[in-house]
Amino acid sequence: MIRIRDLHKSFGKNHVLRGLNLDIEKGRITVIIGGSGSGKSVLLKHLIKLMEPDSGTIEFDGQVLGRMNSRELLNFRRQFGMLFQESALFDSMTVEENIAFPMREHTRWSKAEIRARVREKLDMVGLGEVEDRLPSELSGGMRKRVGLARAIAIDPQYILYDEPTTGLDPIMTRSINRLILDTNAKLGTTSIVISHDIKGALKMADRIIMLHYGDILAAGTPQEILESDNETIQSFIAYDVKGEL
Ligand SMILES: Nc1ncnc2c1ncn2[C@@H]1O[C@H](COP(=O)(O)OP(=O)(O)OP(=O)(O)O)[C@@H](O)[C@H]1O
Ligand SMILES: [Mg+2]
Repeated sequence: MIRIRDLHKSFGKNHVLRGLNLDIEKGRITVIIGGSGSGKSVLLKHLIKLMEPDSGTIEFDGQVLGRMNSRELLNFRRQFGMLFQESALFDSMTVEENIAFPMREHTRWSKAEIRARVREKLDMVGLGEVEDRLPSELSGGMRKRVGLARAIAIDPQYILYDEPTTGLDPIMTRSINRLILDTNAKLGTTSIVISHDIKGALKMADRIIMLHYGDILAAGTPQEILESDNETIQSFIAYDVKGEL
C-alpha cells in the first residue's frame, strides 16, 4: 500500500499540492484524472523521488520515504517503471539503447538477452523494426510507445503512466489500454495511470481519483464516480460519458 499524507508542494507562489491525502492499493489499477495543471504529473514525480515535498509523507508498505543516498535511490527506483508525459527519451540513444537502459542499469542480463527482451517489449507496444532509429526519427505516437516499452522493460513492481494514450489514434489507444490491463493481470503490477481518456479510465480502473487544484476531489470505483452528484465531476466526464458537446 502507498500512503500519502498531507502532501504539500509549491513552486514559488504556486501552491500545487495542497495537503493531499491518498491511499493506493497494491496490485490494482488506479487512474488519476483532473484538469490541466491540477498537479497530476507533480504527484507522480513525488512517488519516485524525482521531486521532494515541502511537507507531508509518502509511505510504501509502512516505510516512510526519507533521505536516500545514491545507492538506496537506485535500489528504490528499481521497483518502478515510468512513462513520462513527454516520453523523455534519450535523444542521442537509439530506440534499442533507450529500452535497454533500465535493463543495463538494474539487471545482469546478457547482451543477447537484452536484445531479445527489447524486441519483445517493442512487440508488446505494437512497434516494428525501429531498434536502430533515433527518437527524432519517430512520430510522436511512436515515441510515446518507445517510452512505454522502456517503462515496462524490467517488469517492475510499480508502473507509473503519465498520459499513456494522449496523442495516439483510437486503435492504438485501445491496444495500449489493453496492455496496461494485461500487465496488471499477468504480473500483479501496481499501476498508476494519469489519463484524460475518461472512457478508458472507466473501463480499466479499479479506482479513479479526481484531482482538483492539488487536492483529491473524489476517489472511488468507476461506478461511484459515474454516480457522483458532484457538479465538477459530472461536467468533467460529460463529454466522454454522455457524448455532450
Ligand atoms: N518543475 C516545475 N517548476 C515549476 N512549476 C512546475 C514544475 N512542474 C510543474 N509545475 C507547476 O505545477 C502545476 C501542476 O503541474 P502538473 O504538471 O502536475 O499538471 P498536470 O495536472 O499534470 O496537467 P496536464 O494535464 O496539463 O499534464 C502547474 O501550475 C505547473 O506550472
Ligand atoms: Mg501532466
